[in-house]
Amino acid sequence: MKTFYATTPIYYVNDLPHIGHIYSTVVTDVLTRYHRLLGEKTRFLTGTDEHGQKIERAAATQGIPPIELANRVVERYHELYRRFDIANDDFIRTTEERHRRGVEEIIRRIEANGDLYLARHEGWYCASCETFYTEKELVDGKCPIHDEVAAWQSEENMFFRLSKYGPALLDLYRTRPEFVRPETRRAEVISFVEAGLKDLSVSRTNIQWGIPFPGRPGHVVYVWLDALSNYVTALGFGAPDDRLYREFWDNPEGRRVHVIGKDILRFHAVFWPAFLLSAGIPVPTTVWAHGWWLRDDKKVSKSVGNIVRPDQLVADFGTDALRYFLLREMAFGQDASFSDQAFLERYNADLANDLGNTVSRVAALCRQAFGSSPPEPCDENELIAAAGRAQAAWRTAMDDSAFHRALEAIWKLLSEINGYVVAREPWKVLKEEGRSARLSRILYASAEAVRVAAVLLSPFVPATSRKIRAAVGAPDGTPSLEDLSWGRLPTGSPLAPAEALFPRVDTAAYFSTEEGKPMSTEKPAAPAAPPPAAGDGHISIQDFQRVRLVTGRILEAERVPKSNKLVRLQVDLGSEKRQVVAGIAARYEPEALVGRNVVIVANLKPAKLMGVDSNGMVLAATVGEAGEPSLLEVPADVPPGSTVK
Ligand code: MSP
Repeated sequence: MKTFYATTPIYYVNDLPHIGHIYSTVVTDVLTRYHRLLGEKTRFLTGTDEHGQKIERAAATQGIPPIELANRVVERYHELYRRFDIANDDFIRTTEERHRRGVEEIIRRIEANGDLYLARHEGWYCASCETFYTEKELVDGKCPIHDEVAAWQSEENMFFRLSKYGPALLDLYRTRPEFVRPETRRAEVISFVEAGLKDLSVSRTNIQWGIPFPGRPGHVVYVWLDALSNYVTALGFGAPDDRLYREFWDNPEGRRVHVIGKDILRFHAVFWPAFLLSAGIPVPTTVWAHGWWLRDDKKVSKSVGNIVRPDQLVADFGTDALRYFLLREMAFGQDASFSDQAFLERYNADLANDLGNTVSRVAALCRQAFGSSPPEPCDENELIAAAGRAQAAWRTAMDDSAFHRALEAIWKLLSEINGYVVAREPWKVLKEEGRSARLSRILYASAEAVRVAAVLLSPFVPATSRKIRAAVGAPDGTPSLEDLSWGRLPTGSPLAPAEALFPRVDTAAYFSTEEGKPMSTEKPAAPAAPPPAAGDGHISIQDFQRVRLVTGRILEAERVPKSNKLVRLQVDLGSEKRQVVAGIAARYEPEALVGRNVVIVANLKPAKLMGVDSNGMVLAATVGEAGEPSLLEVPADVPPGSTVK
């Protein structure tokens, strides 16, 4: 059976995720959603790379065991993935037992094939890359990628006979051009291998934080051999139940795609297939190496110190705005520069204007003319051809992983829908003819084309796609290929209430509130220390009582200028009045908040949000995948200042 398996790199846990990591993950998410939409059986794996010198050192610097550092960062990944609508099927951690077992089995097979031997190894080591460099490869004694001084290391290691696999690898690249993509990367890999491969040291004796090398006390498995194996260990390779492995990896009809950044191409396109060939395991179908997000012409990375964090962007503009930006701004495979200005421009022009306005205009007209349900169908219209063209261009681009071009095709359709509506002037038709058949045809065609655009958008911005479909009365659910056929918009189904998808932002004003700091460089807190918890994850009643929860009545509410999410509240807490800023504007109009009874965290450390002081926090449930806030209600007869416990 045809299957599609896509993976992200597994991320090091010495750092919190930044937009580079998010990008690889979002791309893999889009790819998997696309194949699911095509009706294929898909699986999406991501995870964390937790062993090695780099992690051992980072944990030592923080004075905690490596596993504790890993646990904290993993939590953060889970939380971000939830917010980013990442639909991964599995999340592997290299410290898991299932992984260790699989790595041992791979090593056992490589050894059985006669590809391991013991020898002394010396060289210049960059701990950030976890790799050796030759003197020639270093730039002024520093790692060419991380600009860090490389350290001389000399130790007895187990070696893998990589040199033996040169001819087989070259044969692989030549007979299967899709093995490395894009083409420029393939050429790079070929010339690297043609220059000759040296054997690779695959064990370490100078660190402890790793998987013990089978049969070699004192050695741990080299972190790259450990890490790369995740792609099969997560499927149950080497486990008694290896059904997933057989379905998604050892399957001639299965496609196996690794999405990676170009920084780790050599490991994936040279070392990994060589390990697999040696172990008698099929190689991946494609290693897709994308470019880098740059800031000030340098790769965004912790060691360079020009990190772009997603937190503030997501808080102010929502997840889908960032997903869209990342996929539209970067031509997949090439580098792209991140700037707040570019982000806001795309936000206002593409999302607020082209997408948001087109959808709200069409939905509002349908509602105005036909009440709560879409009009009668029509099957003769120029938009049918436009939707067909958009679909074809989208499909070609998606099959080529040219996500930016797929989005361009959707935007062309949006502009055609807009042009159609402007030319037909349905508002005039409504005035002159009432709910005529002509009006019905115009509006059905517009709403149906919007629905098709939403289906095309679904792999990219799943939550927004869902909202758009609801706004024109299309049924909910995971879209399939059939949903791209014209005429599937039912009539008589309710239209969801209007909601501004991407409210416009005043760019100049936005920057002026940031105290000279670009929004995306705001540093998140260091990985938060977990609350004191017993081994079973419970906290004591005393721990809970440290949080002072009281009821309050909202006296005043107004939007925080230039923010889509924030509302400034004056809250009566009985004995005092407090100013609290809450991120609930997307759901609540300020006027509707006045007089409401709410629950406040009264002893939260004061903070400034978009320059406004906040002394407390309002409790709200987060609903659905989009995490919409829904305020906790307190009965009207409970006086302000009552303790909640
Ligand atoms: N742990 C290894 C990968 C092991 S895979 C078997 C690793 N981890 S990492 O945390 O450094 O993340 C690397 C990946 O994050 C890159 O390959 C790339 O996919 C992504 N990015 C990190 N910084 C990036 C940019 N500035 N731009 C785009 N993506 C980059 O390497």
